[in-house]
Amino acid sequence: MSSERARITIFDTTLRDGEQSPGCSMNQQEKVRLAHQLDRLGVDVIEAGFPIASDGDFESVKAIAEVVRRPIIAGLARACSADIERAWEALRLAQRPRIHVFLATSDIHLQYKLRMTRDQCVAQAREAIQLAKSFCDDVEFSPEDATRTDPDFLCRVLDAVVEAGATTLNIPDTVGYTVPSEFAELIATIRRRVREIEKVTISAHCHNDLGMAVANALAAVSAGARQVECTINGIGERAGNASLEEIVMAMRVRPDRYPYETGIASEQIFAASQMLSEITGVPVQPNKAITGRNAFAHEAGIHQDGVLKNPLTYEIMTPKSVGVPDSKLVLGKHSGRHALSIRCEQLGYQFDRRVLDDVYRRFVRLADKIKHVEDHHLLELIRDTHKPTGSATPLIEPIIPSQEAVVNAPAPEPERAFAAGAQTNPFGVPLRVASESHHEQTQQEDYLWGV
Ligand code: KIV
Ligand code: ZN
Repeated sequence: MSSERARITIFDTTLRDGEQSPGCSMNQQEKVRLAHQLDRLGVDVIEAGFPIASDGDFESVKAIAEVVRRPIIAGLARACSADIERAWEALRLAQRPRIHVFLATSDIHLQYKLRMTRDQCVAQAREAIQLAKSFCDDVEFSPEDATRTDPDFLCRVLDAVVEAGATTLNIPDTVGYTVPSEFAELIATIRRRVREIEKVTISAHCHNDLGMAVANALAAVSAGARQVECTINGIGERAGNASLEEIVMAMRVRPDRYPYETGIASEQIFAASQMLSEITGVPVQPNKAITGRNAFAHEAGIHQDGVLKNPLTYEIMTPKSVGVPDSKLVLGKHSGRHALSIRCEQLGYQFDRRVLDDVYRRFVRLADKIKHVEDHHLLELIRDTHKPTGSATPLIEPIIPSQEAVVNAPAPEPERAFAAGAQTNPFGVPLRVASESHHEQTQQEDYLWGV
C-alpha cells in the first residue's frame, strides 16, 4: 500500500518566512542549530533565508549551506540580478542548492507596488529564471499573490518561467485569502493549462489569515501539488504559514483521505517545536494542534477515565508518535529535584549537581508564588543562569552560578548526536553526564532537596 502513495516534498521555510514573524528573528548560531534539527526531522528542503536582505541573513544561509548537507538548501531572491547573484554566492557551497525567485503577478501588486505592466512582469520573470538557471539547475519560481492573480495571466507567467527552466512552480496564497475548494481549482487549472507542467513540481505556500492555511495546503496536494511549504509551529508573516506538523500528521492519521508519504521523522516534531520556541522566546499557543502543551492533555473526568481505559477513546495519535514525552510531569512546589532535572533534560539541558541545586532553589521559590511552573518559566529560569546577578525578571530570582557549574546548553554539533551509545537530549544533542564518584557524593545531599 505504502508504495502506491505519492511522495510529498516538505519545504520548510521556518528560517525565512517564519523568521519574518514579529519577535521570531534568530541569529546565525541559532539558525544553524535549528537547521540541524530540521535535518533530523527529515525535511526535504530548508529555505535558509533571503541573502540580499542583510549581511546576517547572507552569512546564515552560507553557514547552513556549508554544514547541513542532506536536504536541499534554498535561498530567496527577488526577480532581479543583484538578488539572484547574492543568493547564489550564499548557496554556492551547498551540496544541493536551490534558488527561489519570486515576483508578484496580481494586478494590485503590479499596479501599486511594482508599477509595471503585465508584459513587463512576464519579461522580468523569464529573464530572472534564465539568470538563476545559469548558476543552478534547481530553480523555483513563486508568482507572489497568485491567488488574487487573474488565472489567465498567471498561466501565461508560468508558461514563460517553465520555458526558461524553472523546476518548481510554487503557488503562494500570500495574503491567506483563498479557501480550499478554490485553491484546489486553481491547482487543477494550472495542471491543465500550463505547457510542459508534467516536467515541474507544483508547490503550495499558504498563509493563515483566515485560519485555512493547512486546509488549503492539503487541498492543493489533493489537486496534484507535490510540494508544500510550511513552518514549525506555523510561524510566519502576520497570522503565519501552514504548520508543518499539522500537515504531516494529517497525512499520517488520515491516509484514507490523504494517501501521501513524507520523509518526516514525526518523533522529532516536538523537539523541533520546543527548540524553536526556546530560541525565539515565543511560546507555543497552549491549544496548538500537535505541539501545544494541551494537545495531549485530558482534563474532563469522562475523558481521563476513557483514556486510562484505552487511549484510543480520545487520542487519534499517540504523544510518542510526535515525540511528546510519555508522562507529562506537572511541576509545582511539591515536585522534587529529580522531576525538575528530567524536565530540564527534556528541554535540552543537563546540569551538574551544583547548578541543579541553584536551579532547584529558585524553582521552589518560584513554585511558591505560582501554581504550576510551565516550560517557559523554566527556560527563563535556566537562561538566567547565564546572566549576571540582578538581571532577573520580577518573577524569577537570579542564580549565582558556582565555579564548577556546567550548563550544557544545546550546541551545534549534530554529528556527535549520532555517536554510538551517546546519550542525547530531545534535540539530539549529547548530554554531559556527571562522573560516577561525583554522583555518589552528591546523592548524599539529595535529602536536602526532597528528591
Ligand atoms: O507569501 C509569499 O508570497 C511568499 C513568497 C516569497 C513565496 O513568501
Ligand atoms: Zn509567505
